[in-house]
Amino acid sequence: MRRLSLLLLAAAALLAAAVAVVRAGPEMPQAASVAGMGAGPGVPQAAAAAGMGAGTQVPKAAAAAGMGAGTQVPQAAAAGVLAGPGVPQAAAGGPPGKLSPDFYSQTCPRAERIIAEVVQSKQMANPTTAAGMLRVFFHDCFVTGCDASVLIAPTRFAKSEKDAEINHSLPGDAFDAVVRSKLALELECPGVVSCADVLALASRVLVTMTGGPRYPVPLGRKDSLSSSPTAPDVELPHSNFTVGRILELFLAKGFTVQEMVALSGAHTLGFSHCQEFASRIYNYRDKTGKPAPFDPTMNPGYAKGLQAACKEYLKDPTIAAFNDVMTPGKFDNMYYVNIERGLGLLSTDEDMWSDLRTRPLVERYAANNTAFFDDFSRAMEKLSMYGVKTGADGEIRRRCDAYNDGPNTV
Ligand code: HEM
Repeated sequence: MRRLSLLLLAAAALLAAAVAVVRAGPEMPQAASVAGMGAGPGVPQAAAAAGMGAGTQVPKAAAAAGMGAGTQVPQAAAAGVLAGPGVPQAAAGGPPGKLSPDFYSQTCPRAERIIAEVVQSKQMANPTTAAGMLRVFFHDCFVTGCDASVLIAPTRFAKSEKDAEINHSLPGDAFDAVVRSKLALELECPGVVSCADVLALASRVLVTMTGGPRYPVPLGRKDSLSSSPTAPDVELPHSNFTVGRILELFLAKGFTVQEMVALSGAHTLGFSHCQEFASRIYNYRDKTGKPAPFDPTMNPGYAKGLQAACKEYLKDPTIAAFNDVMTPGKFDNMYYVNIERGLGLLSTDEDMWSDLRTRPLVERYAANNTAFFDDFSRAMEKLSMYGVKTGADGEIRRRCDAYNDGPNTV
């Protein structure tokens, strides 16, 4: 769990206007409203005020469990399907090696509804869950495929992807939502639904819940049998990369420029810690080493607002700013509109305007929300299929943070 200081930046007139829009609009972002952001002037108060943090809410699954296991006969067992560890995949749904949207239609038909109930209630209590889940999903898929390798907990014998520096900021709320979903699923159809599928379905539910598109999610992924502590820092894009370097990463994994730009639209949700963009606003130097008060590609009002908001970030590294300053809790194309106006938060966001390979796509998505949703949907479906394990390549974990054959020792 982490304490967050989410700051909405109202220092500059421009941003005051932006904040006014956010506050007054009919679609008050959930994060803002729950964080009490409609309240005072200047708004800065922290997501801490929103009571964000894992484990604050009684999980439905636990409540269900409390009702007595005896009252709920797992459907799989009722159907005579002995799904569980070591049971051939055919028993756990569809033919081995093939993903399909109705993979669980016989063995756990309510799987998506169960996950949706858990993550929706989590999102209502902790509005940062959606962004967190989406980022966890991306970090899972880009490193050895969508196989829940990011969920493995480190042990005293072995590290895991969670130990990689880039993953330290993955939010506890997202992991908590996965744990609760899995718990609820295990009550109804034990040993059937993989943690990798939980991540894929939970991400879609939350994208849709925050206003984004409902895209197809084929199912039947297996969970990994390994989790590397070093791979994430190598495989994932960092906030100080150039667009060229980011494109290399995406192209090497078979994604196109268009898919990279569309997927980056996920930054319409959530926030980034000040350290991720500090070099743009403090002691800025351009490529030739020439100093400037801040990165000149930034809207000056925005840059000054961020400077004020982040000034204590070295003392308090939990301070963060919304990725999309205009509609932070709403899944929409505002991220691209912001980039056009110099309101991109990370240099990797704003650089998509400077780079002529990506700018036309930013313009297209900024002008056309439907085009963004269509391309995001296709790209998310593709991302969700990236490097998936089927058949004997993986297992269906009983709990998402550990391999079935015991604690992580490899
Ligand atoms: C294109 C290169 C990308 C870079 C350089 C990048 C980098 C980052 C960074 C530095 C953060 C802030 C983390 C923090 O301070 O806690 C962040 C947040 C986030 N990223 Fe990305 N990202 C990229 C692509 C993506 C993609 C493809 C997705 C999903 C499909 C994604 C989803 C998110 C989300 C939802 C957040 C907010 C997380 C939260 O609020 O907890 N990012 N990203």
